[in-house]
Amino acid sequence: MSVPKKSTTGKPFAAVVVYTIALVMLALPVYEWMSNAWWFYQDGSDRVMMFINLPARLFALVGFLLMFFQFVLGIRNPVVEQVFNRATNLKRHRTLGKISFVLIMLHGLLIMTQDMIFAGRLLFDVYRVLGMLALLLLTAGVVAAWFYKPLKLSRTVWRRIHLTGYIVFPLGFIHSTNLGTEPATGRYTVYYLFSLWLVVYSILVVWKLYSVVRGARHRPCNSSEHGV
Ligand code: HEM
Ligand code: HEM
Repeated sequence: MSVPKKSTTGKPFAAVVVYTIALVMLALPVYEWMSNAWWFYQDGSDRVMMFINLPARLFALVGFLLMFFQFVLGIRNPVVEQVFNRATNLKRHRTLGKISFVLIMLHGLLIMTQDMIFAGRLLFDVYRVLGMLALLLLTAGVVAAWFYKPLKLSRTVWRRIHLTGYIVFPLGFIHSTNLGTEPATGRYTVYYLFSLWLVVYSILVVWKLYSVVRGARHRPCNSSEHGV
């Protein structure tokens, strides 16, 4: 009889700490959003704001958090792998990645619907265009990873396309901190939280580059493996 594989590496306390941090990271922007939504409601805001703008912002806030998790789970690093094994991280990465993508796409579509209603056309200011560009790159990266089988993409090709995710996150940061309501309200909690994510993202990217360079140095000269 096969023994079921454990998702953690046998450090239950560390796992509880990680889940708690993740929950706090979710609770802060949602709380900020709820406070703003409450003011909107009391103000008697119009229907477009209530049923298009508010959901669009919530989808963006949660989708962006899940996108941040994608780097923590997708980039191999000793900190997270002390707590959860690689297989668990990748499984969660695939699931959360799909949810993140759907939420962010809905965010973009809802905001474009809002612009069509208010302005009668799509708007193309710099920060909106950055958002659109980010959404296009994200779509390419996620579709390649999600549908590599029906698209008949080789492992090397889909993984290379998937690297677009690295550009999407900083674009999302610039876009959201310049346009977003929640990052600019309250005590700037959401702004500081996003900045913290950007710092962690940057550390992970540096770690990834270091791992690639170290891997290339230690690889035998006749090796045909070219990892991305
Ligand atoms: C918000 C969406 C996503 C982002 C930002 C993202 C980002 C990343 C990043 C940065 C890596 C590490 C790549 C590297 O440096 O080698 C990675 C790996 C990976 N991603 Fe995603 N990802 C997302 C969604 C998805 C989805 C939806 C799937 C599959 C359905 C997926 C499957 C994978 C797999 C299997 C790997 C491991 C590749 C390997 O090392 O062999 N990702 N992802
Ligand atoms: C078609 C593409 C997109 C458009 C037109 C768009 C437009 C907007 C607009 C107008 C806002 C301000 C909403 C408000 O406060 O009233 C906003 C906020 C935001 N966007 Fe986007 N966006 C797009 C794609 C993206 C992408 C790809 C990401 C993530 C990578 C993203 C992340 C965010 C975040 C986190 C916010 C802050 C939400 C808030 O206001 O609290 N957006 N976006």
